[in-house]
Amino acid sequence: MTNGSTILVTGGAGFIGSHTCLALLDYGYEVVVVDNHDNSSPMALERVRKLAGRPLTAYDVDMRNRDALDGVFAAHPVEAVIHFAARKAVGESMRMPLAYYDTNVGGTATLLRVMAAYGVQKMIFSSSCSIYGNALRLPLDEDSPARPTNPYARSKWICEQLMADACVANPKLSVIALRYFNPIGAHPSGELGEDPKSVPNNLMPYLAQVAIGRLDKVTVFGADYPTPDGTCVRDYIHVVDLADGHRLAIEHLTDETGLRVLNLGTGVGVSVLELVTAFGEVCGTPLPHRIAARRPGDVPELVADSRRVERAWGWRTTRDIAVMCTDAWRFQQLNPTGYGS
Ligand code: NAD
Ligand code: WQD
Repeated sequence: MTNGSTILVTGGAGFIGSHTCLALLDYGYEVVVVDNHDNSSPMALERVRKLAGRPLTAYDVDMRNRDALDGVFAAHPVEAVIHFAARKAVGESMRMPLAYYDTNVGGTATLLRVMAAYGVQKMIFSSSCSIYGNALRLPLDEDSPARPTNPYARSKWICEQLMADACVANPKLSVIALRYFNPIGAHPSGELGEDPKSVPNNLMPYLAQVAIGRLDKVTVFGADYPTPDGTCVRDYIHVVDLADGHRLAIEHLTDETGLRVLNLGTGVGVSVLELVTAFGEVCGTPLPHRIAARRPGDVPELVADSRRVERAWGWRTTRDIAVMCTDAWRFQQLNPTGYGS
């Protein structure tokens, strides 16, 4: 794939998608976004255009709508697709599993069918560390067994199998499934970041909203786990490192065909209390928090072994927890109510 190639990005207005669109534009790709803004604001794409100083075409389209998707492929010489669009809240997936299978699995099947109709053979897919479920051994490499524990994670696992089957049926297809660990942080400009539409489910945006005064205090879900300080340990990865991983993946889509699965994480485990402390240091005030019961479905520890992608592409992360907190805090300060500010 060369500079100037057109990349179609589904869910490009979202948290990871917007940062990736910017990375692609910065590297000279043409970017076409499909997003129905179910969980994002068109303002994010305005900011991507401004930061890149280049145009980006966007369609307000639900990716399950095959005719509308067809129209997008007909209008652009798409060479590869990055497929972010999905529902991603674990708790919600327990309450409305069919909506998750419809969007995440149905949307992926629709996309692959339209790609086939237009002869597009290259795709990068947003997979998730949640596929691993309760880890049998740590750190988690890509051969660790998939043991998803909720409909969201199962939908991602089903997508991986669906894509593997599609690759067997079409030997020209090249798909890379990237299993992200816990993406946090924001673009260093403070213009792009995470802007959940309701009260955040995830720890980092919750901390940021406590720090800015939109929420009272952080509830730490469980301090009795078998971890050094009793709170859950996760592998947080800066969203800009993650975006760069997608840019590299685009370059490597031509290496081989079939489905490749790669972890994107740092290999560094950080506990809930460590993240609460790190964020407090960055914003200059310790964040009020209270210890509460475990959150159902949480697993004690998820840390990536990302040596496969490092060996394959030389990819490694460069931003640590302090940078992740600093950048997230800058976005929160500059956008106290998110993109609606
Ligand atoms: P996000 O919600 O910010 O972005 C998803 C985007 O997809 C949003 O802009 C949303 O409006 C769009 N979308 C949803 N349904 C759509 C539909 N039917 N048609 C068109 N657009 C639709 O989420 P994110 O954090 O940027 O995650 C991006 C991808 O990465 C998702 O597939 C998610 O499952 C995966 N992932 C996220 C994390 C994480 O913790 N953020 C971790 C692992 C994997
Ligand atoms: C991290 C830790 C919580 C909020 C989720 C998805 C996973 C992937 C990444 C998409 C946990 C604790 C949280 C709070 C807390 N996403 N916590 N108080 O659950 O590791 O992963 O995002 O693929 O699939 O499950 O991330 O940020 O929700 O939680 O104590 O208010 O913080 O219990 O231990 P999680 P998270």
